[in-house]
Amino acid sequence: MSRHLGILGGGQLGRMLALSARELGLEVTIIDPGKAPPAAAVAAHIHSEYGDQEALERIAQSDALTFEFENVPEQATRILEQKLPVAPPPRALKVSQDRLVEKNQLNQLGIETAAFCEIQSEADVLLALNELGPVLLKTRTLGYDGKGQALVRDASAAAAAFASLKGAAAIAEGLVPFDRELSSVATRARNGELAFYDLTENHHKAGILRRSFAPAPNISKSLIAQAQDITEKLLVELDYVGTLAIEFFQVGQRLIVNEFAPRVHNSGHWTIEGAETSQFENHVRAVMGFPLGSTEHLGHSVMINLIGSIPPAQDVLAFRGAHLHDYSKDPRPGRKVGHITIRRDSEEEARAVAAELEELIRSHEKGIQPSSET
Ligand SMILES: Nc1ncnc2c1ncn2[C@@H]1O[C@H](COP(=O)(O)OP(=O)(O)O)[C@@H](O)[C@H]1O
Ligand SMILES: [Mg+2]
Repeated sequence: MSRHLGILGGGQLGRMLALSARELGLEVTIIDPGKAPPAAAVAAHIHSEYGDQEALERIAQSDALTFEFENVPEQATRILEQKLPVAPPPRALKVSQDRLVEKNQLNQLGIETAAFCEIQSEADVLLALNELGPVLLKTRTLGYDGKGQALVRDASAAAAAFASLKGAAAIAEGLVPFDRELSSVATRARNGELAFYDLTENHHKAGILRRSFAPAPNISKSLIAQAQDITEKLLVELDYVGTLAIEFFQVGQRLIVNEFAPRVHNSGHWTIEGAETSQFENHVRAVMGFPLGSTEHLGHSVMINLIGSIPPAQDVLAFRGAHLHDYSKDPRPGRKVGHITIRRDSEEEARAVAAELEELIRSHEKGIQPSSET
């Protein structure tokens, strides 16, 4: 039986993956260039860059390997693939690393995305404005939590927005007039077995996920069918193994894909308490070649991201149904440092508790940053 899981990356996703793996009795080793990344508290830590040959040789002693974010070098996964099972497949990583390649791949599969243009010059921005109206410029690579993006409303803003890219390759996307944002989290096993979680409704502020509601309310059969169809097409095309997340824009009864992540996802954190098997456990099961667990939801969950700092555990845990996840990261403005999941049997109760907790978080934030925006 496989006993040892290697993970490239040791952030909070790596930590939650490692915790799930440990529950299954597995040993876990991570590579992370940080000195004390969140996962190092629960896994053996190889402190090095991802491309370091000696580090790769050490982690190749594992029985299977995965990664926890999409900016690990594809080359490292290609090298490791020669020595042990690597999941998700390096190709999924490569496609998701570049917004242009990702959108072309989706469109080739007949999956709708925002309209987009490649941007190589300021003139391209003007052409994009003509063709698409106001656009979001996004760097093709390395963007996350809304970083590397600039909204361009008209030609007068084009020069400054192009300059803000600092020479990085970019795309321009037309603005999608969405009714709401949803995401689909699903896991595919080595034998092709599929497991879908309920769709999640996500609220962002300044490009960062703030809240998730699961299962998303008011989901029609058509939305479920579209989400599963799109997810399955992508999983099969990529010959995928592991958990994958797709971010959608809902426009009327239609789903448009924003982007996908070849990994466990922030909008699936609610599954730790709110589903029979979490996205982390199912990812580990898939990567290790085990059968998948049930994705059935248990009541209703609201997930609140803690950004910048964490209110006292004493206060958070006084709320019924509240589960605090503290990633042990240094507090810093704009940084995801933890989350709270409120799980209750009824949607009304989960939302009511979440609303009260929001008050606590707001007053805590005001207390530590009197001049911060509201
Ligand atoms: N084309 C678009 N139209 C409207 N809103 C968008 C568009 N692209 C991104 N957004 C908003 O910005 C958020 C972050 O953008 P996203 O492309 O998902 O970047 P990241 O990789 O940083 O998550 C999205 O969740 C959505 O709220
Ligand atoms: Mg996103």
